[in-house]
Amino acid sequence: MPKQTFILNGKSVTVNVADDVRVLWVLRDILKVTGPKYGCGINVCKACTSHVNGKAFNPCSVKVGDLKRTDEITTIEGLATLDGRKDLHPMQQAWIDRDVAQCGYCQPGQIMEAVALARRVRRERRSITEADLDAIRNVCRCGTYTRIREAVVQGARAMGPND
Ligand code: FES
Ligand code: FES
Repeated sequence: MPKQTFILNGKSVTVNVADDVRVLWVLRDILKVTGPKYGCGINVCKACTSHVNGKAFNPCSVKVGDLKRTDEITTIEGLATLDGRKDLHPMQQAWIDRDVAQCGYCQPGQIMEAVALARRVRRERRSITEADLDAIRNVCRCGTYTRIREAVVQGARAMGPND
């Protein structure tokens, strides 16, 4: 079985698994990192949304053999701690302030998508627009969309330059 090495939440990890296994299964089943949720497995629901090298991606649609040793994957578990925080990331705090979650299943992916969006608009030197919020494709079966939109905007405003 080939050895696969990449960086997960700030630490290098190595697993013995075939090249064509999707990263979501490596995270959840082998490394027991279960923040990224399994919804569809085909890059549609976005429940598994995490970051690779700071940008949102869906690990259910990426083969582990396609990762490089230097690729950095961040899941919801590493979102706050990677910044050396003892408390929550500002986007997580916004989620609590707005009481977003119902069943909670989609929420890690929603938060990771929100942080990636906030970073992208910051790079583009602008604020989040209604069109940005409309473009979020993460599915919430509980229908928390109104509160998600409010929390994304609040969280983005609260994020500092290193968030
Ligand atoms: S489980 Fe990855 S997009 Fe649905
Ligand atoms: S909170 Fe239940 S699916 Fe989104």
